[in-house]
Amino acid sequence: MNARLGILSSIVELLNLNLLIILISPIENWEYYGKCVIKLNEDIQLEWSKLVKEIMNCRKCPLHKYRKNPVPGEGSITSPIMFVGEAPGSKEDETGRPFVGAAGKFLTELIEMIGLKRSDVFITNIVKCRPPGNRDPLPEEVNACLPYLIRQIKLIKPKVIIALGRHAARTLYSLAGLKWSSMTRMHGRIRDIEIEDIRIKIVTTYHPAAALYNPRLKDTLIKDFKESVAKAVEEVLESQTIENSKTKSTQRSILDYLK
Ligand code: URA
Ligand code: SF4
Repeated sequence: MNARLGILSSIVELLNLNLLIILISPIENWEYYGKCVIKLNEDIQLEWSKLVKEIMNCRKCPLHKYRKNPVPGEGSITSPIMFVGEAPGSKEDETGRPFVGAAGKFLTELIEMIGLKRSDVFITNIVKCRPPGNRDPLPEEVNACLPYLIRQIKLIKPKVIIALGRHAARTLYSLAGLKWSSMTRMHGRIRDIEIEDIRIKIVTTYHPAAALYNPRLKDTLIKDFKESVAKAVEEVLESQTIENSKTKSTQRSILDYLK
């Protein structure tokens, strides 16, 4: 952490000037994460813009013919928490934003239920363009699009990924070289996996859309979030706080108060 950031962090901590950080962050290239300010690495930012541009212009699979807008994902690219769904639906296609329809509204509620905000996490999908009529993406479409998700994972280096629905779960398990069975068996499970040499906790649960019209599934999803997702998130935030305090001397900054 540079001196300027350290001094400013202390002022923010003392005076609780969170608003100040939000106001100056676009100028200073900082991202506000919970109670923590992180200076974005310029290389990562450049790589990220390049990746988003590629997705916006991509024609690697036939889904580009039907889309109004590709949906690269949104949220904090310095967050240790990533949510991965299946594919954009019609609202997402119209807006270019992930999970903004009915399922998205429920996902936002679930995220808030465990004490986070949408802006605290990164949200994306396995495929970035809407399959016509909301059909499942074909294996060749998933294969064409997967390199984008892998690059997103390599840049964000999430500590926990929440796979929403069996398509996301199966794809991520297979990326990690693991065998997937079924959501009935695997929902609520936390597993340590490695993708591209990055150690990640994966939590698998039902897709919010599947739970919308099925009260039993909805209760299961809420339970998975309150138990497994909350537990995995708590563990990674805790280990991050410990890592931060190890790298610092006696001076305390707002990074100490991440949780
Ligand atoms: N369903 C998904 O899997 N992703 C979205 O972005 C919206 C609905
Ligand atoms: Fe490209 Fe993925 Fe869209 Fe296919 S779904 S056109 S691979 S961004």
